[in-house]
Amino acid sequence: MFPDPRTILPPYRIKVVEPIPFLTAAERRQALDAAGYNPFNLRADQVTVDLLSDSGTGATSAAQEAAAAVGDESYAGARSWFRFRDEVGDLTGYPHILPVHQGRAGERILFSAMLRPGQICASNTHFDTTHANVELAGAEARDLPCPEAADLDSPADFKGNIDLAALTDLLSGPDGGRVGLVLMTITNNGLGAQPVSMANLEATSALCRRFGIPFFLDAARFAENAWLVSQREPAYRDWSPRDIAKRAFQLADGCVISLKKDGLTAIGGLIGLRDDDVHAKCELNLIATEGFSTYGGLAGQDLERLAQGLREVLDPAYLRARAASTARMARLINEAGVDTVQPAGIHALYLNAGRLLPHLSPAQFPGHSLGCQLFLDGGIRCAELGSLYLGTMDDEHRLLTPAPFELVRLAIPRRVYTDTHLEYVAAVLADIAKDPERITGYRIVSTPRLLRHFKVRLAPVAAPEHARPA
Ligand code: F0G
Repeated sequence: MFPDPRTILPPYRIKVVEPIPFLTAAERRQALDAAGYNPFNLRADQVTVDLLSDSGTGATSAAQEAAAAVGDESYAGARSWFRFRDEVGDLTGYPHILPVHQGRAGERILFSAMLRPGQICASNTHFDTTHANVELAGAEARDLPCPEAADLDSPADFKGNIDLAALTDLLSGPDGGRVGLVLMTITNNGLGAQPVSMANLEATSALCRRFGIPFFLDAARFAENAWLVSQREPAYRDWSPRDIAKRAFQLADGCVISLKKDGLTAIGGLIGLRDDDVHAKCELNLIATEGFSTYGGLAGQDLERLAQGLREVLDPAYLRARAASTARMARLINEAGVDTVQPAGIHALYLNAGRLLPHLSPAQFPGHSLGCQLFLDGGIRCAELGSLYLGTMDDEHRLLTPAPFELVRLAIPRRVYTDTHLEYVAAVLADIAKDPERITGYRIVSTPRLLRHFKVRLAPVAAPEHARPA
């Protein structure tokens, strides 16, 4: 049996539940049509299993809610702030902690203090908001993923790594003087939820020190990265996830974290810093735009939930069960004939829609088609990561450059769905995989100039000849 339930039992039981809707196939078709075939436009109460994001979608614990009840809502110097600060300080070791309402607020504040126009921010892969905030600071976001990341089927352990040779070339080459920041995303959400090894973090840290460049972590999934390190990197086999996470923070000069993931809360983020001057700059910006520096846009009850959540998320029993649950779902999906980016990470699975639907060209958005079909057949919501999201287009919405891969991300909220829900998703996919040619492509009807995937409206194109009923 895989995996043995005696070794992966989740260390909690469920106390509060929420009903999920079951629409008929006709109702789902109508809902998706009204949404312009864009899952972002669906009402959440039309969705049976919502795998759009693992961000802010987790379930809190009884201990978190108990802490929230005693949250201190004082404007300045609240007790809840000190509890949060001490917890984060102990975990990260950074002397300066600034709370923010979510990750991208931290990115905006950090980059406006650290990047000047014309500079480069180098990363294993920037998340999309991170990329946007680097550009809003007038700088260039440059992704340097390791070469193994380009092979979706490679079982390499640390496909989230930065390409050290490319980073060395950049820092020592003609553009070296323009690099203002190196930012490592752990785990690498833009590239298949793949982890970054401690060896890669150590080498990047040493390289940055040699060239005098600040080294930061985008640590939204620091606990999940630590778990995968403990399982895959022999030198860290006997380390606890907490000690691995601490070591990762120690290697960097600071961090920005969206706490909506491994903070196990609906909202929150932080900036961690060693440098006094950068802290002073960020703090002024924070007070002007987010809130006073002891709450940064968060309520006292949020800070309490976070302080508790940051403890719970590093529990090895929790991480082991979550990783096993995702791995089990990956196995079910792969056995049904649908390929996923290998090896499975923790927070999401990435379906290879391009391979499943070779009858659709990138211009017909196979990833989007598969995502729509998952909703039409099973009420499952997910996100396309393919040419609709990443391709370049002309003014008539014609695809000019396709994305390198046509993927669909199934993001798994924390402590929300049981293995039965995930089995259901795998079963719906298995049915799709039996007759993928019946799936039609899509065309864009209207789209905004920026942030296309959020507001685009589409329509199905006619079914391929051979798939039409006679
Ligand atoms: N960095 C990473 C690696 C992320 O995955 C996200 C958000 C952010 C930064 C921004 O944080 O949402 O709190 O402002 N990722 C979500 C997702 C939205 O679905 O992957 P935020």
